[in-house]
Amino acid sequence: SALVGPGTWWRSVTVLQDTTSTNADLADRARDDAPEGSALVADHQRGGRGRLDRGWEFPPRSGLALSMLVRPDAVPAARWPWLPLLTGIAVHEAVTDATDVETSLKWPNDVLVGERKLAGILVERVETPTGPAAVVGVGLNVSLAEDELPVPTATSLAIEGARTTDRSVLVRSLMRTFEPLYRAWAAAEGDPTAGMLDSYVRRCSTVGRSVDVHLPDGSTLSGVAEAVDSDGRLVVGVGGTRRALSAGDVVHVRPQ
Ligand code: BTN
Repeated sequence: SALVGPGTWWRSVTVLQDTTSTNADLADRARDDAPEGSALVADHQRGGRGRLDRGWEFPPRSGLALSMLVRPDAVPAARWPWLPLLTGIAVHEAVTDATDVETSLKWPNDVLVGERKLAGILVERVETPTGPAAVVGVGLNVSLAEDELPVPTATSLAIEGARTTDRSVLVRSLMRTFEPLYRAWAAAEGDPTAGMLDSYVRRCSTVGRSVDVHLPDGSTLSGVAEAVDSDGRLVVGVGGTRRALSAGDVVHVRPQ
């Protein structure tokens, strides 16, 4: 059955041959009132945006840049930080379904194979004439060879022996897994305890490990990642105390 069209939740999926950043493009469309369920894909992304002011570029047709527009009007702002985490669940499911490559999630939302990064997620809030929206961006390394990787700690589906590296199959798979997760979360007004928290923790390789957490002031917090709480924060046990850290409060988490 078609993913986009009459009777489907997705409104459009537009493929750009070449662009700077699909997140920036979709944010522009959102400000022009593009509806929820609009998606953008690029064959070649030259100036992609990553978390913490990093970039996300890849050579033509070797990576996948997908941005999806949502308008979670019924979800209180305090719960929007779940969006990147639920997207991590969707990417994990899509990669398993389409390729048989086993991934895990590094809190908050890196998608890893072993210790190497396969995919990244960047969710950006955008103010639009009809209210706040979020651009959900997924970058996936598809057919990059070892010597094309931006950093040696990255990996790609080709390197991991994926069953397919067909980019249109991967886009469809990502959109298919994202839709029900997002809609269930939005319908529950952002309450992640409705199954999502467990589903996230099951896939998360950070929980249960000793971690060094690098904080914006330059200090490091060493402890054991014990849990993820209902606000999506990482709970770290340090000596006898517990600290709950939100993604925005953390520069980097390094498992030991
Ligand atoms: C990270 O730093 O881990 C997040 C990377 C997110 C990259 C994706 S690619 C599609 C979308 N468009 C962008 O400019 N960035 C995101």
